[in-house]
Amino acid sequence: MDFIRSPLNYTGNKFRILDQIVPLFPKKISCMIDLFCGGATVGLNVKANKIIFVDSNEHIINLLVYLSKHSFESVLCSFENIINKYNLSYSYKYGYKKYRDYSKNKNDNNGLKEYNNKGFYLLRDDYNSLIDKNTDEANAMLYILMVYAFNNDIRFNSDGDFNLPVGKTDLNRMNVNKIRQYIDRIKSINAEFVCTDFTSDDFQLLVKKADFIYMDPPYLLGDAVYNSCWNNEMEHKLLDFIDYIRNEKIDFALSNVMTKIGKTNEPLSYWVYKNKDYLKVNHIKYNYRSSSYNKIMRDAKEDEVLICNKRYRHEN
Ligand SMILES: C[S@@+](CC[C@H](N)C(=O)[O-])C[C@H]1O[C@@H](n2cnc3c(N)ncnc32)[C@H](O)[C@@H]1O
Repeated sequence: MDFIRSPLNYTGNKFRILDQIVPLFPKKISCMIDLFCGGATVGLNVKANKIIFVDSNEHIINLLVYLSKHSFESVLCSFENIINKYNLSYSYKYGYKKYRDYSKNKNDNNGLKEYNNKGFYLLRDDYNSLIDKNTDEANAMLYILMVYAFNNDIRFNSDGDFNLPVGKTDLNRMNVNKIRQYIDRIKSINAEFVCTDFTSDDFQLLVKKADFIYMDPPYLLGDAVYNSCWNNEMEHKLLDFIDYIRNEKIDFALSNVMTKIGKTNEPLSYWVYKNKDYLKVNHIKYNYRSSSYNKIMRDAKEDEVLICNKRYRHEN
């Protein structure tokens, strides 16, 4: 299976290390849960009879569901309607140069920001004033907001309003390819999406269906937006949960960062030490794909790991 990217540009997504982690998963998976799925990058790229994507972020799950239930042509048509309505640039169709020339200072580093400024904020206001944010229309608006926003990201304030400023890019060929590949892949697999917290009762019921759970939680040593809800208490809850699934004979793999710039994830490292007889800690290598990433990781000096069963039970 060729690895594909998520249509959501998700902070901390695992695309860059899929070639290292997927071969470490069980060879045969009947039902996998991609817990803390984010942009769904991992589950999309694993062979299993069924994949259940779970995340507590309802906006993300709603977007993934929206994109999975329509054809590529109809999704693109909805996006084009929004682009036209708000007079946004559309370099997938008309090329980049046409819009870039609009900028007064052609040597600035602002990409399409100036061109899209007015339309983006109108769209943002209209989206934020919607009562129901989980209609097809609302999800299409959110996707376009994400693509045209700063860093192509999604961020909401405590009132539930999308609050990122306009960014430098637009719906381009790369985005459109990612959408097409996602829709093709999701229609070819047996996927279910569930928005829930891993500590909820709903989730405990779901767990019983799985024979393999991959987990990519917020990291104690991380600094992404979604890390703000993660603390020692959540880390301990997750480690207790892994002890529980081990007793239930469900295989697992956990992504995490063990050390970063001299700091150690203490609960995790103690748990690994305590359970060393049945755990295998795989250290992720950085096979540098871009020089800037290369430099960032060298400076960060972090030990990224995939912790899994020493021997998968279903392979014994
Ligand atoms: C490191 S990101 C996952 C990235 C993902 N593996 C990817 O490749 O795109 C962590 C995710 O955990 C989710 N999350 C945080 N707390 C959670 C909880 N208590 N239960 C379920 N999901 C949670 C966040 O919404 C976020 O999407």
